[in-house]
Amino acid sequence: MQIKKMIFLIIVAGLVVFGLIQLVPYGRNHTNPPVTAEPAWDSPQTQALAMRACFDCHSNETVWPWYSNVAPVSWLVQRDVDQGRRRLNFSQWNTSGEREFSRVISRGSMPPWFYVIQHPSAVLSAAEKTQLEAGLTATK
Ligand code: HEC
Repeated sequence: MQIKKMIFLIIVAGLVVFGLIQLVPYGRNHTNPPVTAEPAWDSPQTQALAMRACFDCHSNETVWPWYSNVAPVSWLVQRDVDQGRRRLNFSQWNTSGEREFSRVISRGSMPPWFYVIQHPSAVLSAAEKTQLEAGLTATK
């Protein structure tokens, strides 16, 4: 087979696969359920920092970017938000129990690096990390 023809067929096959995976129903549930219980923030700064760096995955006020509609990225985003809300939800404060804030932020595991490269506004300075960690620990 001619090399050009082969490249053409590979591209067509790739486009067909890309089109077909868009039909998978998982990843399209972009609902933001009602906010039922918010924390009693210890300060407006803590709230602002959490909104900036955590709310997309840990609240019911997720901002769904356009690429969250395109598979396979949509699958990854859906999984992060579903799991994130399950572990810690600032919009359902009484029912979501995770309170182990110590070190996840300063260690750099939250917010996750792949989120930060897409959301530069979620980058926290060292001082902001310290402030957010202390603030969340003080928030009831
Ligand atoms: C890109 C989405 C995303 C963002 C943004 C995010 N998280 Fe998470 N977070 C997750 C996911 C997903 C899990 C569940 C991880 C697991 O189960 O392995 C999680 C788990 C946690 C946990 C549970 C402990 C742990 O390590 O499993 C804490 C606490 C937490 N996040 C705090 C935060 C804080 C505080 C912020 C903001 C500074 C934040 N997260 C930002 C997705 C996110």
